[in-house]
Amino acid sequence: MNIRHQNQPILVLGGHGKTGRRVANRLASRDIPVRIGSRSGAPRFDWENPATWEDVLHGVRAVYLTYYPDLAVPGAVEATRSFAELAVQRGVPRLVLLSGRGEPEAERAEQAVRDTGADLTILRSTWFVQNFSEDYMLDHVLSGEIRLPAGDVPTPFLDADDIADVAVAALTDSRHVGELYELTGPRSLTFAEVAEEIAEATGRDIRYVPVSLEQHAAEAAAHGVPAEIIELLTYLFSEVVDGRNANTTDGVMHALGREPRDFADYARDAAATGVWTRSPVPV
Ligand SMILES: NC(=O)c1ccc[n+]([C@@H]2O[C@H](COP(=O)([O-])OP(=O)(O)OC[C@H]3O[C@@H](n4cnc5c(N)ncnc54)[C@H](OP(=O)(O)O)[C@@H]3O)[C@@H](O)[C@H]2O)c1
Repeated sequence: MNIRHQNQPILVLGGHGKTGRRVANRLASRDIPVRIGSRSGAPRFDWENPATWEDVLHGVRAVYLTYYPDLAVPGAVEATRSFAELAVQRGVPRLVLLSGRGEPEAERAEQAVRDTGADLTILRSTWFVQNFSEDYMLDHVLSGEIRLPAGDVPTPFLDADDIADVAVAALTDSRHVGELYELTGPRSLTFAEVAEEIAEATGRDIRYVPVSLEQHAAEAAAHGVPAEIIELLTYLFSEVVDGRNANTTDGVMHALGREPRDFADYARDAAATGVWTRSPVPV
């Protein structure tokens, strides 16, 4: 790696988000220059505004490419393809794409990025454990009832710290070029088992209450969840959490040579931060 290359930043799209923040912190701790792709960044980056895409790519050596909110939403494949094409045209050789497991649209996005000819690594991930502490499901945990339309289907939840470790390895080591890592945690848990794990870690009474897709959509709307996110969640719970994606994989071991973190370790560490003991935000 030459000096000029070392001084070029790595662009982290969604660099304030669940995986992007962890990727950016890891790169910075290795003194690797980082540019955060964010709507509050300078230059600004917004998936909804292609005019903002060119400036963030200027002079970067690699991109951690994460779409928001999900590669399954209308327009996501086209936007991802256009952004990746622009990156390659602007001389950015290295792309690491965060993809979603069990989503046909995400696989179309993977192919679209592959077609650009970039030096590509794909991280095809299952659901993140941090959804329960840093995102939508946090309010469920705080309320004491995880009310979701997930039946008793198990999911091999994955820790975003593991994704970040794989992403950083891929962004900094050319041995990962051309790899598709299908990433899961080490155990599949039903949402009832998740509730038990979090209850155990917090000492609080937390339970899973299965609800219908319609009931879930109505309750989410009453809590102010935007309509497009409710539509996405309805899709995810009806298509992705249907048992097809219940098995674990050895993707983390393949990429990093170690096992992924267990949900119990995540639950213990998240409980210690106090995130699950503060009062729910009133709506
Ligand atoms: N969550 C999961 O369990 C999971 C599982 C597998 C795959 N994935 C994939 O991971 C990706 C990220 O999902 P996530 O749920 O984890 O979200 P996240 O990375 O936590 O994303 C939140 C970030 O998205 C950014 N953002 C929002 N709107 C944006 C826009 N219009 N343009 C640019 N950035 C925008 C926000 O940054 P600023 O406010 O700084 O702009 C925010 O920091 C998605 O493609 C999803 O399919 C997620």
